[in-house]
Amino acid sequence: MDTRPIGIFDSGLGGLTVVKELLRALPGESIIYFGDTGRVPYGNRSNAAILKYAMQDARFLLKHDVKLIIAACGTVSSVATEIAKELPVPYIGVVKPAAKRAAEITHSGKIGVIGTAATIASGSYKKELHEINPSVRVTARSCPLFVPLVESGFVKDGDPLTTLAAERYLSEFTAEKVDTLILGCTHYPIISGIIKQVLGSKVTLISAGRAAAEAAADLLEKDGILSEKSGEGERRFFVSDMTQSFTEVSSVLLGHRFPMDVRLVDDIDTY
Ligand code: DGL
Repeated sequence: MDTRPIGIFDSGLGGLTVVKELLRALPGESIIYFGDTGRVPYGNRSNAAILKYAMQDARFLLKHDVKLIIAACGTVSSVATEIAKELPVPYIGVVKPAAKRAAEITHSGKIGVIGTAATIASGSYKKELHEINPSVRVTARSCPLFVPLVESGFVKDGDPLTTLAAERYLSEFTAEKVDTLILGCTHYPIISGIIKQVLGSKVTLISAGRAAAEAAADLLEKDGILSEKSGEGERRFFVSDMTQSFTEVSSVLLGHRFPMDVRLVDDIDTY
């Protein structure tokens, strides 16, 4: 039994979609979330900047005596892979668990991946999928408009703007006849209804965040460090900037109004 919290971080508020999955998989665990709202987005930054930011975010969480660190961010999980070696606690990114899940469920062996520019440029999912099964065929593309569309609230099924963007971005997956698509970015599960409408019901969508939450549950169990305390765990939320759109964006991503107390960390660049 280990009642220390799980630390989870993201480039901003997108990681709240992963928090939602984590609360579902592990309701009794305490959680500390750090969203780097002052430096978001990471998805179009250099690898060096992404690694530096990710290390600072992780060090902030370590100060809170976390037992596990989860990078909810697809971009960090793809680019800042060295981070795992630097940390004194177990670390989970979203790439490995999502790739494993996709490789397990594909029938045709044709898998699609979508993510930010940095995620797709890193080739992370392709590498991971080929390590699991060298014969799968992977089609990957970045969808840079999806994050701002989600954060602007254009998320309802059938939304004309997001549907148009999805039709443009996703046509090659239809042409390639993929049967499985990895949603490799925190924000994409929010528009899974639109993505499904565009790709049709034969394509299975894998939420990288959900796969990571399940991997976290397995790891805690395997290492014997589940909290096992009865009742709900404690949840604490930190951000590096209280942006004007905080309330709207967090309610889109969390699915309801942000109920918790959120604290400001205005010196993340000193970690
Ligand atoms: N959290 C990022 C991801 O999952 C999306 C937002 C960003 O570009 O920072 O890749």
